[in-house]
Amino acid sequence: MPERKKKNRDCFQERLGRHHDELRWLYMELYNNGDMFGELCDTMQSFYKERSDSLKELDGKREESPDWFRKNDMLGMMLYIDNFAGDLKGVREHIGYLQSCNVSCIHLMPFLDSPKGRSDGGYAVADFRKVRPELGSMADLQKLSRECHRRGISLCMDFVMNHTSEEHEWAKRARNGEGEYMSRYFFFDNYDIPAQYEKTVPQVFPTTAPGNFTWIPEAGHHVMTTFYPYQWDLNYKNPRVFNEMMYNFLFLANQGMDVIRIDAVPYIWKEIGTSCRNLRQVHSIVRMMRMISEVVCPGVILLGEVVMEPEKVAPYFGTVEKPECHMLYNVTTMATIWNSVATRDVRLLKKQMDIVNRLPREYTFLNYLRCHDDIGWGLDYPTLKEWGMEEVPHKKFLNQFFTGRTGGSISRGELYNEDLATGDARFCGTTASMCGIESAGFEQDPEKMKGAIALDIMLHAYILAQSGIPMLYSGDEIGQVNDYTYKEDMEKREDSRYIHRGKFPWKLTENIGDPDTVQGKLFPALSALERLRREEPVFAGDARVWTVETGNCSVLGIGRRMGDELLIALFNFHEMTQEIELSAEEALTGERFQNLLTGEALDLAKPVVLCGHRFLWAKKVYR
Ligand code: GLC
Repeated sequence: MPERKKKNRDCFQERLGRHHDELRWLYMELYNNGDMFGELCDTMQSFYKERSDSLKELDGKREESPDWFRKNDMLGMMLYIDNFAGDLKGVREHIGYLQSCNVSCIHLMPFLDSPKGRSDGGYAVADFRKVRPELGSMADLQKLSRECHRRGISLCMDFVMNHTSEEHEWAKRARNGEGEYMSRYFFFDNYDIPAQYEKTVPQVFPTTAPGNFTWIPEAGHHVMTTFYPYQWDLNYKNPRVFNEMMYNFLFLANQGMDVIRIDAVPYIWKEIGTSCRNLRQVHSIVRMMRMISEVVCPGVILLGEVVMEPEKVAPYFGTVEKPECHMLYNVTTMATIWNSVATRDVRLLKKQMDIVNRLPREYTFLNYLRCHDDIGWGLDYPTLKEWGMEEVPHKKFLNQFFTGRTGGSISRGELYNEDLATGDARFCGTTASMCGIESAGFEQDPEKMKGAIALDIMLHAYILAQSGIPMLYSGDEIGQVNDYTYKEDMEKREDSRYIHRGKFPWKLTENIGDPDTVQGKLFPALSALERLRREEPVFAGDARVWTVETGNCSVLGIGRRMGDELLIALFNFHEMTQEIELSAEEALTGERFQNLLTGEALDLAKPVVLCGHRFLWAKKVYR
């Protein structure tokens, strides 16, 4: 047997050997089906064989350096292929621009085949092995991946495993009454069982897609549809569904993906009488997925999309010995950041950071200000209540603030899925519009604009200083504002998330070199911060991170220590100037500090004055 072939086989067997017993145990516990488990292992081996040599080489390197994705040179950006560059080829042609944004990981928003008009932004997949034709082909995807890898950039894509589109082949066959395919979904010939589910299962889209079931007249059945009626929930109690979806996952990994975002993962297991979220079996499935990828494609990491309260999020990391996801979204921090902007009060944000900072350092969060989805105000309401803020009125205040309807707010945006019954609503808008860049531009008010840009930069400086990996939203680097044209599109008008999914305004990038423009102020400022984060040792992924007592509830303080390096970062969430006196310990009396951005010497033992919405990154200097 040729040497390489033998090495490859040994490699697979050795990795499988490491995980086999646990994998089998979990599989048998869920499915009790040895034949299907055998099929899974054989098919894993086939995918391993098909995996290209260059990806296998990358796997090997990453196995030797398993922290590769937690380093401070990791900076993500999420983008829609069509909005950004038309198609996959266009993205490849614009990698240079992304590199000028210091980006080292590109999250390509859903691009698999999905029916036009009934796609939920691509999250209703009709074919897991086909790219939407107008965006290109699998060959284009591989080409893009190779080019990215050549430049040290990694690629992330969504794996929408909770449901398929109603146009997926399985769904079509189920609709035709083929039992084998009906059993891959949740079909009911009367409403008795759906009615039982409805008693305990909350609604994801109460306004745009009420209820969790959809009547399919041709099939004479109700089908479970937690999200939109055209997104049919898959039944993971059926081992065929699990196996086939794992094969789809491995197929996509083999196209050269580095990060797989597991979409809506808390929802994948359903039981009557429960909320059908975060059930125990979900964790078994994610753990199996982690082991399957470690056997076939260990260079691939799993990013879990768990938009839940903090105590539900962290369990998706699994344990240090039996890990599940490599990375999770820091969703509560994201919502709490905006809460601090509206209230000018950082206490809740500090509390949230303290929770995150107490978790094992292996747990890596993805930090972000905005993404393609709405902001659901998932805050720590029991604590807010202690401080005199009740959930319903507080959410109302936040929505009023960010839609620009309260005094002092220059934010712009729209409500999302306003639930008239509960008074609940979520919020949509771009970072720039939420910071006031849209309204200041519209009013041509230079003072307002200055403040809006300062806030935008300060918030970025904050997410770059947190522990974890920052993920930027394409367009934020040039202050892209809300796009209201979705209202003219019949297929999008009901879904206000499209307000922050506008076409990338390439024209504005021409202003980056002109300091009199928004782009000329924002882009270089963010760029300087990103470069510092990449180059300064104190930003290392395993640095110790803690919150610093500032004695001022509008100013958040962060400390970072890596070896001898120390950073004290201060962020003023108030539009008015604030003065901070750090405690003797934190000011390290007598030590010299330097403003990392300007090089100016600082004495943190004296009161620090921060103008409205400004920040300071101060690094300890050694004599
Ligand atoms: C995730 C996506 C969201 C989508 C939903 C259903 O939450 O982020 O955009 O609507 O899944 O697939």
